[in-house]
Amino acid sequence: MSLISKRGVSYVFAMFLLGGSVAWGADPAVLKPRVPPDRIEEARTWQNPFLETPERLERGKAIFHGKGFCVTCHGRDGKGLGNIPGLRGKLPRDFTDKAWQAARTDGELFWILKNGSPGTDMASFIPLVLTEEEAWDVLLYVRAFGGT
Ligand code: HEC
Repeated sequence: MSLISKRGVSYVFAMFLLGGSVAWGADPAVLKPRVPPDRIEEARTWQNPFLETPERLERGKAIFHGKGFCVTCHGRDGKGLGNIPGLRGKLPRDFTDKAWQAARTDGELFWILKNGSPGTDMASFIPLVLTEEEAWDVLLYVRAFGGT
């Protein structure tokens, strides 16, 4: 069974085409905030309103592998996939990196799910693909990769 549904593949390709001049490859500056400076103060005040429970983690995992198709770029192990057909190079993100986990607030990650990471192939998922509650659930799962 293919992990990537046909719909998932076309999303990935659409994002690649829309992404245009995105530079992939080693990113020495993963710790640099991705939320623009004029938005970050507000984003950092947002907190996950949902406590981590086994049910929410399960839901987050299902979204990561399913309708969010996060797995197609971020990988089953959360370390980011290289050599995705149609995409070049390695993802500049490793969710198991504790330094990266510590550098980000939940609010900043939520902002990225709302707006995408400007200038990269990380697209916006809220509200077209995920509700806000689903986004918080998948972020609980992203946090779990860091062992936190
Ligand atoms: C088309 C490929 C792709 C898909 C699908 C994708 N991402 Fe990303 N994601 C990226 C890339 C590329 C980056 C790095 C962006 C950057 O360096 O700013 C990223 C970065 C991130 C970040 C880190 C932002 C930061 O502040 O450092 C989070 C969190 C994230 N993605 C979550 C998700 C979630 C959750 C999903 C599924 C709902 C998802 N991504 C789906 C490509 C993807």
